[in-house]
Formats: sequence, C-alpha cells, structure tokens
Amino acid sequence: MRADDADAQVAAYLRQHETKGLLRFITCGSVDDGKSTLIGRLLHDTKRLFDDQLRALEADSRRHGTQGDAIDFALLVDGLAAEREQGITIDVAYRYFDTDARKFIVADCPGHEQYTRNMATGASTADVAVVLVDARKGVLAQTRRHSYIVSLLGIRHVLLAVNKMDLVGYDQAVFDAIVASYGDLAAQLGIAQVQAVPLSALQGDNMTSASAATPWYPGPSLLGWLETVEVAPPPRQDGFRLPVQWVNRPHQDFRGFAGTVAAGVVAVGDEVVVLPSGRRSTVARIVTADGDLAEAGEGRAITLALSDEVDASRGDVIAAAGDPPEVADQFAAHLLWMGDERLLPGRPYLLQVGARTVGASVTEIKHKVDVNTQEHLAAKHLELNEVAYCNLHLDQPIAFEPYARNHALGGFILVDRQSNATVAAGTLDFALRRAGNIHWQHLDVDKAARARIKHQQPRCLWFTGLSGAGKSTIANLVEKKLLAMGQHTYLLDGDNIRHGLNKDLGFTDEDRVENIRRVAEVARLMTDAGLIVLVSFISPFRAERDMARSLFAPGEFLEVFVDTPLAVAEARDVKGLYAKARRGELRNFTGIDSPYEAPEAPELRLDTGVEAPARLADQVVAALGLG
Ligand code: ADX
Repeated sequence: MRADDADAQVAAYLRQHETKGLLRFITCGSVDDGKSTLIGRLLHDTKRLFDDQLRALEADSRRHGTQGDAIDFALLVDGLAAEREQGITIDVAYRYFDTDARKFIVADCPGHEQYTRNMATGASTADVAVVLVDARKGVLAQTRRHSYIVSLLGIRHVLLAVNKMDLVGYDQAVFDAIVASYGDLAAQLGIAQVQAVPLSALQGDNMTSASAATPWYPGPSLLGWLETVEVAPPPRQDGFRLPVQWVNRPHQDFRGFAGTVAAGVVAVGDEVVVLPSGRRSTVARIVTADGDLAEAGEGRAITLALSDEVDASRGDVIAAAGDPPEVADQFAAHLLWMGDERLLPGRPYLLQVGARTVGASVTEIKHKVDVNTQEHLAAKHLELNEVAYCNLHLDQPIAFEPYARNHALGGFILVDRQSNATVAAGTLDFALRRAGNIHWQHLDVDKAARARIKHQQPRCLWFTGLSGAGKSTIANLVEKKLLAMGQHTYLLDGDNIRHGLNKDLGFTDEDRVENIRRVAEVARLMTDAGLIVLVSFISPFRAERDMARSLFAPGEFLEVFVDTPLAVAEARDVKGLYAKARRGELRNFTGIDSPYEAPEAPELRLDTGVEAPARLADQVVAALGLG
C-alpha cells in the first residue's frame, strides 16, 4: 500500500469517527438481573478496555473464581463502582465506548441515581433504555416500575434484554411468553418500539453477534440493535432558550450570561426576553471558547452579551422575544418519590429546574399509580418508590416548558431542605391557571401603621413541645402579663383551633402538616394586623416550624421550645391521653408512636424541670424586650 493511500484511510477512519452518531442509553435492572455482567461484556467485546484493565480483570476473575477460568465481567463494572464509592470520580457513572457505527454513552448508576440524573439534567437524557429481565423470573413489579419511569423520561425505544437464557435451556417458549407480557405493558405506557433479544450476557449469546444457541431467533444482537436503532427526534421549530448558568463579569465593561442553549437558534441582533422578569434586549455578541459566533444552536455552550444593561441572574431563562416559554408558579406534574421519609403535601421542599432553585410544595396528590396495573389510586402521602401525578406550588414563578417538549426546562428534582438529599424526580406537565389571575391587592394601611396605634412591635411567639409539656400554661401566663402591660395579643391554641378552623384534621403526619400550615398563615395575618401572636401547638416537625418562620420578617418570629422530657409529661398526663395511647386506644400519639423533632436552634428554651411556669413566662416577656 502506498503511503498516501494509508494516510487517506486513516483520514477516512477519523472522519467516520468524528461524524458517526452518538447514542445515549440507560440500563434498567438490578445486579441480580445481570446488569453489571451485561455492561462489562459490552465494554469487553467492543474492545474498549485497555490492556492493563483486561489483565487486571483476568487476574481478578481467577482470584474470585466465580466463573471458573472464564472472565467475570461483573467484576469490571463492580470494581469501577467501588472506585466511584470512594469518590475518585463521579463521571465513572457514565461509560463511553464506540464501534465503527456509533459512539455510545451508557448511564450506569446505582439504583435511583440514573433516573434522577436523567430527569434533572435534560441534556443527558437517554435515547434508549435497555430493560433487563431474568428469563427465569419474567416481567416483575420492578420491571414494570422501571418501564413506567422510562416512559416518564420520554424514552420511546426499549430493548427488552431477556437475560440468562442459558439457565432456561434457550427455550423459545419462555422467551415468547416474556415478550408477550412485556408487549402489553409497553402498549399501555406508550413506548413506541420494543425489540426483545434473548441473551446470555455471561455466555455472550446474542450480545454482539447471532448465537448458535438460539437458531429460532431471527433478530439483531444487542449491540447490532444499539448500532442501528433510529432515534432521531422529529425536527422541532422551537424558539431560542438559554437557561443562565452563571453571570460572567470579568470587568466593568463586559457582562455575559453563560449557559448551554436548551432549544432553538440565536443570532447576533436577535431580540430576546429575560424571564421571569420580562425585560427585553437584543443580542450584541455570542461569545464562546473558540471566539465569537454569528449564531449558535441547541447544545452549544455560549456566553450572551446583550446590548442593554438588562439584569439577569443564575436560573433565569433568556428566550426568543417573539416565542417565549410560559412563566408560572403552579403546575401539574409527574413525580417519582425517592425519599426515605414520606412526601407530605404542604411540606416545603426545594425544586431545581434548569439552573434555577425555588421553594416548592405539593399542594395535592391527584393520584398515585399502581405500576403493576397502571391503576390510579387515591393517596394522602407518598412512600419510597411511589409514582404520582400531583399539583405543585412554587414560591416564585419560573420560565418552563412541558417536559414532553423540552427536557431541560421541564425536568426537575425536589431536594429536602434539611438534609439536602434529592427526594424526588419529576416532569412538569402543564401550568395551572389558578393563581395566575389573582393579583396581590395593594392596601394603604400597612402593618407598621397598625402596629403604631397599638404602640407595639408585632411578633409571633411560637411555643412548641410535647403534649402536656406546659406550652398552653406558659403561653396563657405570658398573654396575661402582656395584656397587663397594655399590649395587644392573641393566643392560638392547638386544642381550641382544632375545634373550629382545623376540625377536619386528625393526627396523621399529613394532617399535622396542614394543621401547622393553616395556623402559621393565621399567625402571619394576625401579626400583620399589628398583634403579638402566641401560637401553642405541638408542631412536632422541624420542616413545618421552619416554614412558619419563613413567613415572618427577620426578628419577628421567636421559637420557644417548652422542653419537658417525655417521662415527665407522661407522668403528669393531665388529660389522660398518654395512658390511652399506651393502652393502644389512641393512635399516632406524639412521643409514643409519632415523632417529635426537638428544635435545634430555638430563640428560647424553657426548661420546665428547673423553673416554675410563672418564672418561665417572665423569661419570655423579657425576650420580647418588654420585661
Ligand atoms: S400538632 O401536632 O398538630 O401540632 P396540636 O397542637 O394541634 O398538634 O394538638 C395537640 C393536642 O391534641 C394535644 O395537646 C392533645 O390534647 C390532643 N391530641 C389528641 N390526639 C393526639 C395525638 N394523637 N397526638 C398528639 N396530641 C393529640
């Protein structure tokens, strides 16, 4: 071969690799289904392992001896997983390999992480899902759950990997039965294409080429299908959208808004709008690491400079002025709950969509879904792994698009405010029009004016503690003292409010959340009226006490922890309720079979074991600066 022929071949090969398509996929299944072996085998058979990795793998396999003299491919993946647990690199969760036909990125994350990542980062959303089934077990509840989530993610192409065919004697009847039962499920879920492949990841059957063990199977191998499946989405005519990741201000004369184009195309001179503020401007420059561009399209990382001094901050969306996305603060949404603690409607969480983080709560669970039957079931709360359709309320409006249209602006996660753990992943469906037509009415008489004629500073004193801790006794004494000093007050007491406003509520966790939400709103109104409000509720959960605090101006809210040990409150048992609870006649009793989360940093802690109630009441009055 002449040298320039060889050069031409090399160049052609490089060109092919540059231009060949990229397929992203996720694998759904557990280690038991053979997931690690399947991925390990793919990496091995596509020769994407480095020689040293391969030698280590062979040595490990011999040492563990799980597969006789053969290579244990699972060790490869699990070994990398161990590395990941040590925090060496997070990107190991994604594996890259390629063949002559395509490049592949497989999101291989443990458990829920793959869904979270896919929902939360629209850009990484998979084109295809490989759903693993153990041929001996068939379609399980777990298979149905995974497939439901796959459909939520908007993935329309599934490879049903019927694995461990070697353990059922490569029996076609077993395969056909599984394929038929999965077909029904896929139809229900609206999954457009299912290709079932009989496999043995361990033996290598139908992994990269047709297996002699399944002469009855005419279809493609796993890799063959991945190399050829057509997933190109229909061309979209979407307007330009840029979620602002950060504001780039290297010096006084330049301010740029950096992010990755989530949809559409932007060109210099285009008119744009910053959302949610609605300020307009035109594009002055499109800056990239490779220099300025005249225009940029979807997937491109850019920094936009605008021709006016328009303010935008992280989490805002810059969009085509003629075709902007909607802005809203209430939504119907699908939710996959992944928290160890239950989802409780009304409880405040943080919601992240695109680059934006806002406060959010579920106002209503419309229904949860039985993933086995697709049935819609009524629900008051959600447990780990449950999926539901919900109404969401955000505490600020956001620019968004339905997930079906734009994954980056419609996929979200919910984060627990206290632990910072991701507790849910979800997709925005559409905006609810409820509050959109209700505007805040400006009133001329304000809190300050109302407080002035009462010659006092409005406050909320929030007493929390076990039943029988002494909250009401102390709050009652405090109110008497304040009244004697000429202060205008009101005492909201749990038992009393439960006779009226909250008489529809019981003592389940979700009812207590609603109980506190309502009384916190009432306390806020009363404070706005200029009063000193005393709230005496068990209020057992930190999250709701924090939510109450967030409704007030700084310094206005004082959390008063009436600290009485359970044994002492129970020994007193003024209302005989502890005895009843111990006898099992009263369910969900705080301190017995329902938790009390003590305040971590209350403004005031009253130790009822040391001081008499009258002295403790004096401490509270003193804390108001009135003593
Ligand atoms: S909270 O937990 O939702 O804040 P709240 O302060 O309104 O409770 O009501 C508590 C009062 O209801 C108690 O003082 C007690 O008298 C009564 N009660 C009845 N059942 C229960 C129960 N299961 N747990 C706690 N308190 C109960």
